[in-house]
Amino acid sequence: MTNPSLLILAGDGIGQEVMAEVKKVIGWYGDKRDIAFDVSEDLVGGAAYDAHGTPLHDDTMARAQEVDAVLLGAVGGPKYDDLDFSVKPERGLLRLRKEMDLYANLRPAQCFDALADFSSLKKDVVAGLDIMIVRELTSGIYFGEPRGIIEEGNERVGINTQRYSESEIERVARSAFELAKRRGNKVCSMEKANVMESGILWREVVQRVHDAEYPDVELGHMYADAGAMQLCRWPKQFDVIVTDNLFGDLLSDAAAMLTGSLGMLPSASLGAPMANGRPKALYEPVHGSAPDIAGQGKANPIACILSFAMALRYSFDMGEEADRLENAVETVLADGKRTADLLGEEGVQPVSTAGMGDAIVEALNASL
Ligand code: IPM
Ligand code: MG
Repeated sequence: MTNPSLLILAGDGIGQEVMAEVKKVIGWYGDKRDIAFDVSEDLVGGAAYDAHGTPLHDDTMARAQEVDAVLLGAVGGPKYDDLDFSVKPERGLLRLRKEMDLYANLRPAQCFDALADFSSLKKDVVAGLDIMIVRELTSGIYFGEPRGIIEEGNERVGINTQRYSESEIERVARSAFELAKRRGNKVCSMEKANVMESGILWREVVQRVHDAEYPDVELGHMYADAGAMQLCRWPKQFDVIVTDNLFGDLLSDAAAMLTGSLGMLPSASLGAPMANGRPKALYEPVHGSAPDIAGQGKANPIACILSFAMALRYSFDMGEEADRLENAVETVLADGKRTADLLGEEGVQPVSTAGMGDAIVEALNASL
């Protein structure tokens, strides 16, 4: 059997630094668990633009289509702010999502006990929180046509189109129900069926998939604005939330803050199964490239390391190894080790980006 293949696209800003720590973890699995990955690396975002004049070279795109999983750091930075829209670093990421057809974006929001005081919400609201947002990632208003800025009379009009087909809703609904079966067996679907036809169809199709294929999973529906309110009021009422591309973008940032720090949250973007049965997949931290702190050893590598844990679970069917890595992160936090984004409490021990990576590797060693 060939080794599982990984394409690493560290990208820009802190992407490079946090990925260096993930590579330590990947190395550990090779040395200590005999799980050797066939790792290749390439450029994305501003780094790719600097080298090739495009945020994603065609060869990189082709390689991404072949590997078992892509691991991405972050893209963007002020240096690229004035570039044309078509070659901005973010376009590289959107092209990967679209061409790999990664329609289900899994964004867990999990509050580690050691960080429950760190959230801006009261401790009892967030302690023990473990929810999963499933965001549709390849359609909706992000990609719908017509779009653009056009002249109309003596002014300009900006246009984007929210558009969902039944099959697009069905497949992401299935992803959400499948996940729920392995978690708390509960799905809440969010849309704006009160004002949008696409929302009416969304609700109807999610309900239909439920009734026909997943009648044993508890299903509820909420308008997305009410959902945002409930997410802040009592987030533990949710298990899996399934929603469209734009609502998912907003709701997942809100959910991120429940956990205390954006530097903690991983994500998986999954598509249809490939010939080997594994889903097309890209894993990335939810945070961005944070150019203001890049290169200073301040970045928190945990979100990127937990993204690799998601790869172990969802691409390589190594749930126990994923648990091991997540437990190692939990141990290190419980020991009081904190990167710059998590400082402030009494009695904690500041560590650099590399210090956090080393501590996690040490906790992995201790787990054997
Ligand atoms: C995200 C980001 C992206 C999005 C940007 C960087 C294109 O906000 O992954 O949530 O809007 O999807
Ligand atoms: Mg976002």
